[in-house]
This record gives sequence, structure tokens and C-alpha cells, in this order.
Amino acid sequence: MRRTLEARRDAGQQEPRPWKSLALAELSAARARMLRMLEGLPEDALTRQHSPLMSPIVWDVAHVANQEEQWLLRALGAPALTDAAFDALYDAFRNPRATRAQLPLLTPERAFAYAARVREASLDWLQRLPEDSELPLLRGGFVFGMVAQHEQQHLETLAATLQLMTSHEYRPAARPRPSPGRAAQYEVFIPGGPVRLGSDGPWAYDNERPAHVVDVADFLMDSHPVTNGDYLVFVESGGYEDARWWEPKGFEWIAAEGIRHPLFWLPQEDGTWLRRRFGHVEPLPRDEPVQHVSWYEADAYARWAGKRLPTEAEWEKAAVGSDGRPRTYPWGETPPTEGHANLGGDTWGPSPVGSYPAGQSADGVWGLLGDVWEWTSSTFDGYAGFRAFPYREYSEVFFGTDYRVLRGGAWASAPVAVRNSFRNWDYPIRRQIFAGFRCARSAR
Ligand code: AVJ
Ligand code: FE
Repeated sequence: MRRTLEARRDAGQQEPRPWKSLALAELSAARARMLRMLEGLPEDALTRQHSPLMSPIVWDVAHVANQEEQWLLRALGAPALTDAAFDALYDAFRNPRATRAQLPLLTPERAFAYAARVREASLDWLQRLPEDSELPLLRGGFVFGMVAQHEQQHLETLAATLQLMTSHEYRPAARPRPSPGRAAQYEVFIPGGPVRLGSDGPWAYDNERPAHVVDVADFLMDSHPVTNGDYLVFVESGGYEDARWWEPKGFEWIAAEGIRHPLFWLPQEDGTWLRRRFGHVEPLPRDEPVQHVSWYEADAYARWAGKRLPTEAEWEKAAVGSDGRPRTYPWGETPPTEGHANLGGDTWGPSPVGSYPAGQSADGVWGLLGDVWEWTSSTFDGYAGFRAFPYREYSEVFFGTDYRVLRGGAWASAPVAVRNSFRNWDYPIRRQIFAGFRCARSAR
């Protein structure tokens, strides 16, 4: 027994666990968060298009339920509630975000009722399934993990929609964030050598598979993400006016859009800076990681600072640790708690850097999970041996050079949806997501 467990740990896999209870807990946590986030929003806030970048909130609600119906009911042989024709309305590929408000969508009341009925049916079906099925969709509870992560990903998207919303006031009750006092930025030397990337864990997505070993050269990783205070020096010293720091396409883009600072920053006549965060307009907190910057802005700052963005392999090596031991999270195998990282959405903003000593990696890099997504220099592609599972539209159709990879998760990401191996991606111009970055440098 001991040997088996050790062998499994060596292979970096999670130990077998009763996945049905975990599935129930994670699905319930996601739904409770959805209701907490949307409680009290008037009908008009739920149905209107707040930004061409985002769906009407009520679309996300029914889309999440429809995906659950497809994967936990239809795909597992349970009686479905709607027919496949209904799926078209909530198919993300058939309907670009900007067009979704024109669709004959369920009303909020019906969308919530649909989500509740699907949930009731899928939990009922869960009870009847065997714990030890070897069906690919059910092995380790994969498809339940996929649906719970999917709902949480859409709740993060809803947080971005609520941040963009200007038609209604939104002031959610927030869990207090730590205030650790000033934390120095320093560089952590990460010795080169082989590192095991990706995951074969039961709830890993296809784009994390297969786990594989790559070689990474010696490099230096910043101990913390770049803060608002750091980034402000770049802004105030004319960083947005100097083409030297920018990828040509990015420099053209900020000029055309008139972009001179991160999204939601508000420059004042007297030279001070405020920022808008949900219903709050507040002084720009200097010690928090900068967020709402595009990849182009992150890349330009890094070049100005004499550094560069890490590759995603470097990022993951810094997270896993350079001592050769596999780790699911920077600190080890313990699932994230409030002491490890700012995750789960209830703080409604990043914490100051240096807030989570327990969340450090084995090499002493801070804040890798939670607070803000971290842009990397890498484009999004499949690992060698990639196989789309269970559907091409989760990852594979996005492979290529259009997207950049983000790592680590934000304050709005759920614990179930982040780990060292998790890969997110977006266009290099995207700023409404909760993205920041940290810098790296080759050690040479
Ligand atoms: C992994 C965050 C890029 O939101 O577009 C949600 C997740 N996929 N529904 C996205 C996703 C299908 C995806 N990201
Ligand atoms: Fe989706």
C-alpha cells in the first residue's frame, strides 16, 4: 500500500479519493457562489448587454446549466430536460458574445429555474453512478470536475461583467484582505534542469495532459507580481509614449485606442490616481498587484524594466519547485485555504503582495496562485501527445499564435479551477480579465 501511494505521488498524481462527495461539494460551492453574486440584481441588470465583450448575465446562467445538462445528463445516459435544439441558443460558438442579447433567451426567472432543475437531476444521477467506473468521462469523476470548474470559470467571467457594468451600482460584501505592510520585490534564482509540466490528475483538462518533462535553463523570477506602485512609475515616466518598450502591434493598438494606463485607473487633475473597483472609486492602492493590463502592456513594462515575461514552462517550474518533487500547488498538496492564496471571489480584489507567506513556492516565490492571472510570453498550444477530451471546443480550437497563456488564477478564480498546471489563455489586447504579471530574466 505504502509503495503504491509513493509510486503515485512520484508520478505526481493525486491519491484516489471518493470523488462523488467531492463532486457534490464542488457543484454546491459553485451554485452557492452564483446565487451570492447575483442576489438582488434587478431584471434589467441580468438581461442587458453591459459590454460587447461580455454576454448578458442571464446567458451565462443558462449556458452553465445547459452544459451541465449536456455532460452530466445526456452524455451519461440520464433523461434530459430539454432537447438538443435548445443547446443552440447557449452554444458559445454559434453565438458571439455581442449578439447574445438579441437571442430569445430564457428570462432570469426561467434561467434560474432551469439551472435548479438540471442540478436536481444531475445530483440524483450522481447518486446512481458507480464510484469506480472506468468510462473515460467518469474516471475519477472527471466530467463532474469539468462541470464544476466550468461553472466557476463562468462566475469569474460574471465578475468581469459586473466590473464593466455602469448601468447599476454593484457593491458586494467583501471578505477582508490582509494588510501585510511593504514587501520588497527581489529576484529568486531558479536553477535550470528538468521539470515535470502538466498533469495526469483526474480533474486536469485535456490541455494540461500529458504530464511531461522539459528542460528549463537557469532563470530569475520576481518574488512578487508587479504592483500598481511599480507600474505607476512606468506610466508616469512616459512608458506609454515610448515605442522602444512595445511590440510594434501593441504600440499601434494603444495609440489607436488612446490607452495610457491600465483599465479602470482614473487619473485626476491634481496628478493623483484613483481606480474604480465594482461600486468603489478609491485611491489606487500601491501595494496590490496591478490588474486589468493587456499582454502588450505587461510585455512593454517588462522590457522597460530590463526584464521579460516568463515562459509558461518557467512559470510552472517556479510554481512546482526546482527540487524535483511534484507539487499540485506551490506549497504542496494541501488544497488552497484562505491562508494560502486569495481565491474564490469573495474578496472582490487582489490582496497586497506579501499577504500569503504560507503560499510561497519551495524556492520562495510568492503569490503564484490567486490575486491576479499572470501573463506569460507563451502562445497557447497542445503539449506533445495532446488529445482533445472530451470536446475540441474546450481547448484545441484555440491553439495557435492568436492567444497568450496566463497562469496562476485570480482572486475571482475558484480553488477547484486553479493549480500549478492550469492553463488559461486570452488575446494579447484583453484587459477586462483579472490579469497582471510578474517579470523574469535569464540568469546566463
Ligand atoms: C479557459 C477561461 C479561456 O472562459 O473562455 C468557459 C473557459 N470554456 N466555457 C473561457 C470556458 C468554455 C474559457 N477560458
Ligand atoms: Fe462555457
